[in-house]
Amino acid sequence: MIHVRAPGRVNIIAEHTDYTDGFVLPMAIDLGVEITGEPSDERSLIVTSREEASTIELSTDADPRGDGSWRDYFAGVVRALRESGEVVPGARIEIRSSLPIGAGLSSSAALLVGTLYLLHELQGRTIDRTALARLAQRAEFLGTGARTGIMDQFVIANGRAGRAVLLDCRSLEETLVRLPSSASFLVVDSGVRHSVATSEYNVRRQECEAAAAALGVAALRDAGDGDRAKIEGLEEPLRSRALHVVQENERVLAASRAFEDADLALAGRLMSASHRSLRDLYEVSVPELDEIVDVAERTPGVHGARMTGAGFGGCVVVLIDAQRAGSVREHLLSSLRKRRGVDLRSWNVRASDGVEVIA
Ligand code: GLA
Repeated sequence: MIHVRAPGRVNIIAEHTDYTDGFVLPMAIDLGVEITGEPSDERSLIVTSREEASTIELSTDADPRGDGSWRDYFAGVVRALRESGEVVPGARIEIRSSLPIGAGLSSSAALLVGTLYLLHELQGRTIDRTALARLAQRAEFLGTGARTGIMDQFVIANGRAGRAVLLDCRSLEETLVRLPSSASFLVVDSGVRHSVATSEYNVRRQECEAAAAALGVAALRDAGDGDRAKIEGLEEPLRSRALHVVQENERVLAASRAFEDADLALAGRLMSASHRSLRDLYEVSVPELDEIVDVAERTPGVHGARMTGAGFGGCVVVLIDAQRAGSVREHLLSSLRKRRGVDLRSWNVRASDGVEVIA
């Protein structure tokens, strides 16, 4: 019996830059998915999910059904392994999650990275962590059709306690960024889940590819200062999409330096600027996320706030002065309760290690 813990992730800044070969600054967090497995003689994966309160059985040559169910993630795992010429072992697997599902904290990437890691461990094989991230990204595409970038899988595989990961998504070179002890991160769940998320996500990717082609660069990461006039000349929505990506890449590099310098006021301003850009230029926010960001920004002790993840719902990440973390959370949640009439779920999260075997 092997137990694996795969963390979720919060992206601190730089959204929708990974699939344009740009930079991101996520951290693995102390909420995650626990996956327990043992080998079985049957030629199938038998998976029980506590959260879904159900068990599925997949033959080791199963294909996705395309019905958006969690079974398709496992069909993606099976297909990705087969495609890369690896053995799909028979196994009994049980999953538990402390991560909210579908809330933009990468529950699906945690499930995929964790399962693939476990299946290798069950066969006594090690897998390079970057190869693991790529395999999980491929599994998600094969299982669900989502053309995600590499950010989530990479940080879930490579996270480090107390550090954020500045990742160059072109070279996959990572730089660990020390998060100062004066920084505390609060995640607030808007409760909104949008079914358009996957299709709109793929549309944004296509728009970025079209903008890069119109600018004559391989990817928007390559558009620099000299391309500003050309970007202004693009037709909408390509102009807005390209502007967001180019400026977001500048913000993430500045924010990484600000965290290293423990300049939380600057890091927070950059996070809030990122949110406005995602709202106005990239158009992936929703009013519920904007409201949480607005209220957070008016709460004393908050340095900045932004939506995190793909958008269209999900969570906001708030950067808070650590000494005031408790009172800020109370104040913020009570202001939101007065407006919404309900309690929103929230978590104080810490940067944690990537996927690992636990006792
Ligand atoms: C999702 C994707 C990531 C990334 C973000 C947006 O989380 O899985 O690859 O593109 O959206 O930044």
